[in-house]
Amino acid sequence: MTTKRTGRTAAKPVPSLRPHVLVLHGPNLNLLGSREPKHYGLATLDDINRALVARGETAGAQVETYQHNHEGALIDRIHQAALDAVDFIIINPAAYTHTSVALRDALAAVAIPFVEVHLSNIYAREAFRHHSYFSDLAVGVVSGLGAHGYELALEYALRHLQNRTPHGSQKTQKAH
Ligand code: DQA
Repeated sequence: MTTKRTGRTAAKPVPSLRPHVLVLHGPNLNLLGSREPKHYGLATLDDINRALVARGETAGAQVETYQHNHEGALIDRIHQAALDAVDFIIINPAAYTHTSVALRDALAAVAIPFVEVHLSNIYAREAFRHHSYFSDLAVGVVSGLGAHGYELALEYALRHLQNRTPHGSQKTQKAH
């Protein structure tokens, strides 16, 4: 969202057509590269983030990334996303996938469409990982494709955002 001042009129928010995507990573994902590589691969979080930001630049989109180990910090970042006029969220809630009603409620509250990403196939692992508090609100879920899953989610977001009108309305609007 940018602000335009014209003469005597008050500042008026003008929706920007430059797509703004926020990528959120939950707890322990800062350890990617060394953390249980049989589940999560060898790419570091930095590798993943750099590739996403670079892809965003090529597409003329702003891609921001944020990782935190604390639930409240992730919730605050989601609230901030609404103020920043973020158009789309890609989130790997990590272990909060299976526990956090609070994080789910934050996404529902801001009503920003999102894709849920997991590096590992959560359905091929322990039973406690089979339930997600996010999937029914998500536009879609990518699980088990490793770091490539984030790239696919970003491709979806970019394509989805290309289709929106100058007023910022979008064809796909889950998380409402
Ligand atoms: C994960 C899967 C979760 O079950 C786990 O707690 C994680 C990572 C994944 O990316 O595969 O931390 O979200």
